[in-house]
Amino acid sequence: MNIKNVIVIGSGTMGSGIAAQLCNAGISVTLLDLKTEISERAKKKIFESKPPLLIDKNKINNIRTGNIEENFDVVKKADWIVEAVVERIDIKHNLYKKILKVRKKDSIVSSNTSTIPLKVLSAKMSEKDKKDFCITHFFNPVRYMGLLEIVSENINDIKKINFLKNFCEDSLGKGVIICKDTPGFLGNRVGVYAMQVAMTEAIKMKLSIEEADAVFGRPMGIPKTGVFGLYDLIGIDLMADVLKSFIKELPKSDVFHEVTKEISLIKNLIEAGYTGRKGKGGFYRMNKKDGKKVLETISLTTKEYSSSRKIDLNIDEKVDLKKLVSRNDKYGKYAWSVISKIILYASSLIPSVTKDYNNIDEAMRLGFNWTKGPFEMLEELGVKFFIEKDNQLKTNEFIKKLYDKKSDTFYGKRQIYTNLETLGKVKQLAKIKKENKSAITYEHKNYKIVEFNTKANTLDYDSMDALKKASDKNLIIINEGMQFSAGVNLNYIMDFAKEKNWKAIEKFIHHFQMTCKQLKYSDNLVVSAPSGLALGGGEEVCIQSDYVVAHTNIVMGLVEVLVGLIPAGGGTKELLWRWTQAPEAKKDPDFAPQKVFDIIGYGKTATSPVEALPLKFLLEKDKSIMNRNKLLSVSQDLINEKKDGYKPPKKPTFKLSGDQVRDKMFQTLENLFKEKKILEHGMEVGKKLAFVLSGGNTAIDKELSEDDMYALELEAFIQLMQMEKTQARVKHTLLTGKPLVN
Ligand code: NAI
Repeated sequence: MNIKNVIVIGSGTMGSGIAAQLCNAGISVTLLDLKTEISERAKKKIFESKPPLLIDKNKINNIRTGNIEENFDVVKKADWIVEAVVERIDIKHNLYKKILKVRKKDSIVSSNTSTIPLKVLSAKMSEKDKKDFCITHFFNPVRYMGLLEIVSENINDIKKINFLKNFCEDSLGKGVIICKDTPGFLGNRVGVYAMQVAMTEAIKMKLSIEEADAVFGRPMGIPKTGVFGLYDLIGIDLMADVLKSFIKELPKSDVFHEVTKEISLIKNLIEAGYTGRKGKGGFYRMNKKDGKKVLETISLTTKEYSSSRKIDLNIDEKVDLKKLVSRNDKYGKYAWSVISKIILYASSLIPSVTKDYNNIDEAMRLGFNWTKGPFEMLEELGVKFFIEKDNQLKTNEFIKKLYDKKSDTFYGKRQIYTNLETLGKVKQLAKIKKENKSAITYEHKNYKIVEFNTKANTLDYDSMDALKKASDKNLIIINEGMQFSAGVNLNYIMDFAKEKNWKAIEKFIHHFQMTCKQLKYSDNLVVSAPSGLALGGGEEVCIQSDYVVAHTNIVMGLVEVLVGLIPAGGGTKELLWRWTQAPEAKKDPDFAPQKVFDIIGYGKTATSPVEALPLKFLLEKDKSIMNRNKLLSVSQDLINEKKDGYKPPKKPTFKLSGDQVRDKMFQTLENLFKEKKILEHGMEVGKKLAFVLSGGNTAIDKELSEDDMYALELEAFIQLMQMEKTQARVKHTLLTGKPLVN
C-alpha cells in the first residue's frame, strides 16, 4: 500500500494544519468542509499564517478545496481520509457512515479527536471497517509540534498501523507514539494534569500568575509560557472543554479529578470573552495606556488587571531541579509540590496506560516542548531523595519498586518509539563526553558531536572553544533543545561593554572568527544540523561548515543589524563570497556586495530551507529534512559519503570596488532615511556594513584575502559596539525580546 492521495475533512485549526503539512510533504491533498467557502477561507489562512504552516508558500495550490456535498466523490480515490471536524460525536458518526460507504478498499480512515475514545468513535462500524480505523492525534500548530499519537485497538491491522506510523514519521516528520485507547492518550493525560496541578497549587499557595509562570517554566525545563501563558495560548474556553471530557471519561478514583474543580475566575473570564490570545486576552492581556502597549496580568485574588511584573528567581539559567525543589521559600515549595504530584501521577499510569514510561517523557517533549519528562525529572532528583524528602507523599507501586531496588538510576534507553538512530539515543551511547559551561562534546563512531547548551543556545567564548577543540575529528554540530542557536550571547557582550572592556569583546570576536575559520579549513568534515532558530552567530557557524543538514522548521538569518551590529564571525564575508559566485557577479563586481547589503541590511530571515536557498543561507549541496530525529543519521551518512579524499575548500580572494560601490550603498541609505524607513542609527549601522562589504579602502584591481575581510568585520563590530545607540538597541532587545528602532 501507499499514501499518495489524502482527504482531510474539516478545515478548522487542525484540518488546515494537517493539510498544510501534507502539502509540505508533497502529498496530494484535498480539504473538505461544510461549504467550499469555508475550506477556501482556510486555505487563505494557511497562506497568511504566522509562523507559516507552509514550507514553500508557492505550493499553496497543491491543496485543493471543496465541500462534503458536491465534492464527496474525491473520498473514493483516497488512500487516507483524516477527519478533523468539530468535537461532536453525532457529527463524526454521520460522517464516518458516509466515508465508509464509498472509501477505497484498504484505505485508512482516522480521526483527529483529542477527547473521544476510539471505541466510541468506531462503535457503529463493521469489524472490517474497524480494522482500518484509528485515531491520529496531531498537535497544534501541526507543522511545528513534533508529536503525533496514533491510537489503535487490538482489532486494528497492526501492519497497517505500522505502515501509517512510518509514513507519518518519514513523510510528515512526526515523532509517532502508538498509544492505547485511554482518555487524553499520553501527551494530554499528563500535560493537562500538569497544567491543572500548576494552576491549582498556585492559587492554593497564593502565588501571583507571574510567579507561578516563572517557576513552572524555564527552571523546570518547561517553555516560558508556563501554565497561565499556555492556558491563554491554547484558549481558556478550549481548556474548559478538554477538562469536561476528562471528568466524563476518567474513573472516579483517578486523582486527576482533584484538579478539575471549577475555578470561578476561569468561568468569569470565559463569560466576559477573555478566552486567551485569540480573544481579548486572558490571564495576560495587552492594554493601551497613554498610547503605549502594556502587558497586564490579572490578580488571582482581586481579579483586577495591573502591569505585569518580571520575577527574578535568582537562579542559574540551567535547570537544577534538586536545587529548585530544595529551596526553603515559596518558590521552592511550589516547585516541589507541582513536580512531586506530576511524577506521582505519571508513574501511576504505568503499566495500565502504557508499559513504557519512556514514551510519556517523549510525549511531553514532542507535544509540550518540555526539555525532560516526569521520569527524567525523577531520575535527576534521585528516587531516594524523592521518597525521603516528604513523608506525606502517597507513593505508588512503580515508585516503591524503584525505591526497594536501592538504586537511584533506573532510566534505560531513550526514544524507544522510533527505530531511527536519534541524537537522544547516540548521546547515551557515546563513549566520551566533555563539558564546559556552554557546550557538551560527545565522541561516537568516527565523529564528534558538539551540542550547545545555554539558554536558546546563545554563543560565547566557551561555545567556540568546544567547536575548535572538536574539529580535530569529523564534527556534527547539533542539539536537542528547541533552537540551534539564537546568536551570540548579548548579555555576555553587554557585560564587557558596560566596563568599556573593548579588548575582551575583540578577543571573543576574534576567537569566534578563528574558530569558524578552523571549521572551514580543518582536514575533517564539519556538518551543522540546525533546527529552530539559526540566527546571527548561529547562522555564521552554519555557513562556514562544509555542509548543512537543515530541519524544515528552521528560521535562518544574519539579523545582527537589528541590535545595531553586523555579522562579524565571518558571516558577512562568507555570504559575500557565496554571492560573488553568482553568474551576475561575473559581469558586475558590485552585484554581490549590493545583494548582501540588502540581505544583511534588512536582517532578512528565511523560515524554511526553501526560503533559505535563494538568499544563499543554504546551498544546493545542503540537505533539507522533515523529521528532526533524522538530522543526526543524515549528517553521519554525509560524513561517510564524503570523508574519503575530502579536501578543505580553497581560500577565497575578493576584488571589491571600495568607495565606488559604497557610494551606491550610501545613496540607498539616504533614500531610506528620507523616507523615514530608518533613523539616525540605522544610517550609522548601514554605513559600517557598507564599509565592510565594499572592501574598505580598496580598489577593484586590488586583491583582498579572507583575513582582510575578517579584519574589516571585526573593526566595524567594535566601532558599533562602542556606540551608545547600539548599546541601547542591545539593552532593549535583552529586556523586551524586540528590536529598537533608533
Ligand atoms: P475547528 O472548530 O477549528 O474546526 C472544525 C471544522 O469542522 C470547521 O471548519 C467546521 O466548519 C467543520 N465541520 C463541522 N461539521 C462538519 C461536517 N459535518 N463536515 C465537514 N466539516 C465540518 O476545530 P479544530 O480545533 O480544528 O478541531 C478539530 C478536531 O481536532 C476535533 O476533533 C478536536 O478535538 C481535535 N483537536 C483539536 C486540537 C486543537 O488544538 N484545536 C488539538 C488536537 C485535536
